[in-house]
Amino acid sequence: MKSLPKSKRDEVDVSNEFFPATPRKEFSIGLIRIVTAMVIFMAGGVLGLSVSSTFTRYYPLHTDVFFPETRYISNSNRDCSGIRNFVKPAQVNHNMNDQQLFWRGSMVPTIKDYPFRRVPKVAFMFMTRGSIPLQPLWDKFFDGHEKYFSVYVHTAPGYKLNVSKTSAFYRQEIPSQVVEWGSITLVDAEKRLLANALLDFNNERFVLLSESCIPIFNFPKVYNYLINSKQSYVQSYDEDTPRGRGRYSRHMYPEVRPFQWRKGSEWFELNRKLAVTMVSESKYYHVFKKYCRPSCYPDEHYIPTYLNMFNGSLNSNRTVTWVDWSREGPHPAMFGNEDVTEDFINSIRNNGTICTYNNRPTSVCYLFARKFAPSALRPLLNMSSKLMKY
Ligand SMILES: *[C@@H]1O[C@H](CO)[C@@H](O)[C@H](O)[C@H]1NC(C)=O
Ligand SMILES: *[C@@H]1O[C@H](CO)[C@@H](O)[C@H](O)[C@H]1NC(C)=O
Ligand SMILES: *[C@@H]1O[C@H](CO)[C@@H](O)[C@H](O)[C@H]1NC(C)=O
Ligand SMILES: *[C@@H]1O[C@H](CO)[C@@H](O)[C@H](O)[C@H]1NC(C)=O
Ligand SMILES: *[C@@H]1O[C@H](CO)[C@@H](O)[C@H](O)[C@H]1NC(C)=O
Repeated sequence: MKSLPKSKRDEVDVSNEFFPATPRKEFSIGLIRIVTAMVIFMAGGVLGLSVSSTFTRYYPLHTDVFFPETRYISNSNRDCSGIRNFVKPAQVNHNMNDQQLFWRGSMVPTIKDYPFRRVPKVAFMFMTRGSIPLQPLWDKFFDGHEKYFSVYVHTAPGYKLNVSKTSAFYRQEIPSQVVEWGSITLVDAEKRLLANALLDFNNERFVLLSESCIPIFNFPKVYNYLINSKQSYVQSYDEDTPRGRGRYSRHMYPEVRPFQWRKGSEWFELNRKLAVTMVSESKYYHVFKKYCRPSCYPDEHYIPTYLNMFNGSLNSNRTVTWVDWSREGPHPAMFGNEDVTEDFINSIRNNGTICTYNNRPTSVCYLFARKFAPSALRPLLNMSSKLMKY
């Protein structure tokens, strides 16, 4: 996955992105000529843009080159009837309500072949109330891999991240609503992130992360692990405690039976088909909304229980986000400046546990870790290239 120099790579991508590399037979020669002419014309345009000095360090997303803000707006009427904006909305902002958004997110084409060159991407979906203090670390992680990921941020309504134009987080805030910890509004926000990410047909894997999460391997490793995985990573287990089975409510019967009840970390990873499944689901959502409260935490039960009931074989039942619950209490341990040493990070990357990946044993159980305080940023940036190779 070693990438070409950025500007060069962008040129190649752009010319291949929306037109098949080898036109299908049924295309007439004339059409091929037109397409070729357009490709050359667009490549020229991109070349022109890439030498223009308005773009500073590099292009955070190749779409910024392809759809510069001003040009996109002035051409928006023309583009609406084309395929580009349908395949990947030029911006994550929109004015749909949840019902409209989920409906659009649930769309699945019935023709198997894509009429454009599809490069599967990982959608990194961040749930935060405010800033993302570890954003410089994430940007280091993302740097150079623009073609292979998308970022979506669910914030407090109207909150704008203070990041530079070169950041992968720049203008990636989705239309958000108030989220209350432990309530169904957290599930709503998860579905909002999923549905937004589903609007980009290139997104294939969907990871939910918090502002205290960090990547513990480099991008190519994380990308390959997720893209090539036969299963998704939603923790789902049965726990005979007040915090597990104790949260089941008799009122959920018969839709959800006690033996089907599961618990799991909120921080999931889903493939595209399962993301569509969860965005489209409403029957059990309403059961959880009505009866998984108070002190029930729907975000820890709804998806783990649903997948257990209907899609168990597609799930690994484990999470790829490490966390330390060894301390008693409602919140896991938080790590700051003092805690972040090479040994500590190494012990998360490989703590001696063997996990299963595509039916084979692996020492790589986790790709991300939480919870890290803002003070952890400095030591993490310091050791990221040596230890985590990014
Ligand atoms: C945004 O970040 C810059 C640079 O870190 C800082 O100078 C500026 O005060 C910040 N703006 C706000 C509104 O926080
Ligand atoms: C998961 O199960 C539901 C209910 O049976 C089904 O409608 C959905 O298609 C399944 N999802 C996948 C990805 O197989
Ligand atoms: C995960 O649990 C489901 C039942 O919900 C089971 O069918 C599946 O085999 C389990 N997956 C693994 C990898 O153990
Ligand atoms: C590795 O991490 C898992 C999950 O946090 C934990 O259950 C296990 O005990 C750890 N193993 C060692 C040897 O630390
Ligand atoms: C990074 O850590 C090393 C070893 O602890 C230290 O010597 C060095 O000063 C640190 N560099 C920065 C930029 O913090």
